Amino acid sequence: MTFDELYLKMKNLMKTLLSGMSLLIILGSCSDMGEPEILLPQMEVETTLIDFSTVTIGSPQTRQILIVNTGEGELKGDLSLVQDSSVYALQPNGAFTLSNDDTLVAELSFTPSAEFTYTAQIIISSDDLGNPEHVVDLNGVGTALPVPALTVSSTSLNFGTILTDSSSQQQITLSSTGNDTLLISSIAFDLSAYRVDVGTPLELIPGASQTLTITFHSDEAGTFNGNLSIVSNSPSTPDVVSLSGVTEAAVSYAAAIQPVWDASCGGCHGSNGGLNLTSYNNLMLGTSSNGPAVIPFDGANSLIIRRIDGTTGGLMPQGGPSLSASTIATIETWINQGALNN
Ligand code: HEC
Repeated sequence: MTFDELYLKMKNLMKTLLSGMSLLIILGSCSDMGEPEILLPQMEVETTLIDFSTVTIGSPQTRQILIVNTGEGELKGDLSLVQDSSVYALQPNGAFTLSNDDTLVAELSFTPSAEFTYTAQIIISSDDLGNPEHVVDLNGVGTALPVPALTVSSTSLNFGTILTDSSSQQQITLSSTGNDTLLISSIAFDLSAYRVDVGTPLELIPGASQTLTITFHSDEAGTFNGNLSIVSNSPSTPDVVSLSGVTEAAVSYAAAIQPVWDASCGGCHGSNGGLNLTSYNNLMLGTSSNGPAVIPFDGANSLIIRRIDGTTGGLMPQGGPSLSASTIATIETWINQGALNN
């Protein structure tokens, strides 16, 4: 028994007791019994609105409506459902009879068939002259089947080339783009050079998003092409982001570059002249009239590379022999790594 039903029962019981008492008083005070009393019905319905709110398409929701005859005579009435579509159903429906103190429990169901707001009315008519028609307004909204969905902001991340003792970070965003909660059970990499700052499980309500910061780092020089796999309850699972990155050992200026200048250039590029190659600081001062000799991170366009590989001007060292291809490559790598004083 619901609270509403209990409440109505108690209320009716009180009414019956009170009317019984007054009848006794009347009987006691009147010596002659007059005309037979006409027993009148009385209809009570507390509900005026049933709002089902949002309901998934195809899944029925039910509510009850209580019709109580609180009068002393028999109540005759009629229940009818007025709707444009057939999403609501009422049981029982049509004519009904309720003896005094009886309750009719009508079951109303709502089964939306589309993404739509459905309004309707239940009209309860009765022979209670004080309440000949009671209207219950109905409201319900159909919504699509709840399906979680994951959208990842990028399908690949390229970390470029970094030094073995450094790390590089990039971000991606995971968005919950379905209409059901997205549950991410795992975010995993197939290579240990990559890691992420967010743990699992992750729960994202529709519309929510989570930013992941992915860090690339390796103590070993190498090429790291791997995958980030995100496992979730989205139909797209697993969502995969491809990752690429290269690490290389830093070329030391002191150990690998200055000795080349000392052995092959110093004789002509000492303290006198347009370009001084006797130290890192002097090298970085550049030429006296043609700008910088080194453009950090851009070996190919650095004048010193263009002169030792013969791209521009007379090949250095002047008079030869030219530097080996591997020595030139080492100098270019050192510049591409940022031309550090290391
Ligand atoms: C035998 C002497 C000699 C040697 C050895 C030599 N250079 Fe030069 N270098 C010169 C002269 C002279 C110039 C200026 C004329 C010119 O630009 O060709 C010059 C110019 C340059 C310039 C251009 C400077 C400017 O102001 O534009 C660069 C860069 C350079 N040398 C790099 C080197 C490097 C690097 C080495 C060693 C691998 C080297 N040179 C070895 C004589 C030399």
